Amino acid sequence: MKVTVVGAGNVGASCAEYIAQKRIASKVVLLDIKEGFAEGKALDLMQTATTLGFNTSITGVTSNYKATAGSDVVVITSGVPRKPGMTREELIGINAGIVKSVVENILAHSPEAIIVVVSNPMDTMTYLALKATGLPKNRVIGMGGALDSSRFKTYLSIALQKPANDIQGMVIGGHGDTTMIPLTRLASYNGIPVSQFLDSKTLEQVAADTMVGGATLTKLLGTSAWYAPGASVAYLVDSIVNDQKKMIPCSVLVEGEYGLSDLCIGVPCIIGANGVEAIVDVPLNDNEKALLQESASKVRVMNEALDSVL
Ligand code: LAC
Repeated sequence: MKVTVVGAGNVGASCAEYIAQKRIASKVVLLDIKEGFAEGKALDLMQTATTLGFNTSITGVTSNYKATAGSDVVVITSGVPRKPGMTREELIGINAGIVKSVVENILAHSPEAIIVVVSNPMDTMTYLALKATGLPKNRVIGMGGALDSSRFKTYLSIALQKPANDIQGMVIGGHGDTTMIPLTRLASYNGIPVSQFLDSKTLEQVAADTMVGGATLTKLLGTSAWYAPGASVAYLVDSIVNDQKKMIPCSVLVEGEYGLSDLCIGVPCIIGANGVEAIVDVPLNDNEKALLQESASKVRVMNEALDSVL
């Protein structure tokens, strides 16, 4: 299986690293517009192959889309990341043009590829990729929910003082500080509702920390995070290339599901060889339903900024 990662910055390079280390695909192509950058990252990563024991071939190219031909999955991380104090939404103007041209170049060489969008604002960039290309909805997947859910589970594990992998939980809605919805009511510690162990004030704090999870890191690091985003992309790619059919919250086109349509927003999806194979209908309570509608309204407002690009 061949995976292309467009953008060899921190998120793209971490994603390539995890795909190789976890032996998810046999070939990874890293592409960047900065002369020699992807080549350098690829070479550095390949020099870990013998010590880490992987056989994935990682190659780097500068804007050479021919080298990406025949990719099964293409991850788009291109664009500028947030700086401290910036919202993901403020990146629309710059990133929309970049994402549109990247996705067109990609499809010219890999017409069958499944596209995973990471660039921010992620829900809007996913919608743009879908609308600009006319691809079927199963082939365009926004990666945000996997990352937000991993942050949610991390904060829950800290509050519970229990191992992270004993925690289950999902975040749906938009991938924005005010649009994501940690589904606290449904989160569990090995199947036991977390509300059995944590009071409502603590749970509210966990949800609040999750929602600004990315912003907290941007403030600490001076740029946006990369380990958890890279690992979350690799997790998603794994479910596609190895047809694992995992349930992962992803930003996908909704057509009536959850009472929403004509936007991409985070909902629980079955992710397999055909990309988005189904949207799972999780019964939400009235409060969660209202939050999802409100989140969708905010994502729609952002999507309006695409009118000049589409
Ligand atoms: C984050 C960026 C990748 O949430 O959106 O860290």
